[in-house]
Amino acid sequence: MSVSAPATDSLPDLAPGEPIIEVRGLVSRFAEHTVHDGLDLTVRRGEVLGLVGGSGAGKSVLLNTLIGLKQPDGGQVKVLGVDIHRAHGREMDGVERRWGVLFQGGALFSSLSVRENIAAPMREHTALPTSIIGELADLKLAMAGLAADVSLLKPAELSGGMRKRVALARAIALDPELLFLDEPTAGLDPIGAEQFDKLIRELSDAMGLTVFMITHDLDSLYAITDRVAVIADRKIVATAPVRELERSDHPWIREYFLGPRGRAAHTDATGADDGPEPAAAPERGPERRPERRGGAR
Ligand SMILES: Nc1ncnc2c1ncn2[C@@H]1O[C@H](COP(=O)(O)OP(=O)(O)OP(=O)(O)O)[C@@H](O)[C@H]1O
Ligand SMILES: [Mg+2]
Repeated sequence: MSVSAPATDSLPDLAPGEPIIEVRGLVSRFAEHTVHDGLDLTVRRGEVLGLVGGSGAGKSVLLNTLIGLKQPDGGQVKVLGVDIHRAHGREMDGVERRWGVLFQGGALFSSLSVRENIAAPMREHTALPTSIIGELADLKLAMAGLAADVSLLKPAELSGGMRKRVALARAIALDPELLFLDEPTAGLDPIGAEQFDKLIRELSDAMGLTVFMITHDLDSLYAITDRVAVIADRKIVATAPVRELERSDHPWIREYFLGPRGRAAHTDATGADDGPEPAAAPERGPERRPERRGGAR
């Protein structure tokens, strides 16, 4: 069951494989601090794209820029065919209801019940009656793998993994074409993280969703991404399937994928320790290590 037809008649339709996100020459600054400098990125319709980079490299700032929460200091950002930073009013409302966002940390409303949290985007963007919104919210809860009896609980009464699923249910509330996820498996136990990965891939396949996923979780990269973009030195330095990135000469990428955790993830994913030679130690390693599940191996 889907939410009522969105008011997006005037927005362009995109064919599979066409760019759904196009970033050209993005410059982002906070006062004197330049976070992005000439960043380019293309995300294709229907793919699961992972975004990796050191802590503070500008991943969350990029996400905020893509959804119009941060104004760029240069360059152009097109999402779903719309120039996000020139769009306003009806056009922005129309495009906002075609994407869902799971923010880093979940960001649920603590005073609202689970059902009210999931219902919030439907209240904001549709004129559906309250009873229908409640039913749709419970349906999204089920799609995110939670039982109906958590619907009336408050976020504080849930485990971390359950909160992630509620945040995912809210992100898919409006049947989005595009899903933004910021560290969706951070803080989950290995089994919970694996289930969450599977859920995201299933939703992507079943709903034809494009997924833009920021992650440090190497297992997620191997398990569910079609391509991975790497942010370093204020730019996207590579975008490729994870197996191609393993062959990159870029020092940060080599350290990331060919350090002990990267090699273990490769071995788990392929069943064979046939990865490239281990990386020589770079002069300056990543500020944040890639994460493996169940502790470092
Ligand atoms: N509102 C803000 N005001 C000033 N500086 C900010 C603001 N938001 C982010 N920054 C800075 O921008 C840089 C990039 O931050 P961002 O949150 O995008 O990092 P990240 O790549 O998501 O890191 P992490 O992996 O730790 O989540 C950081 O140096 C951060 O301090
Ligand atoms: Mg972040």
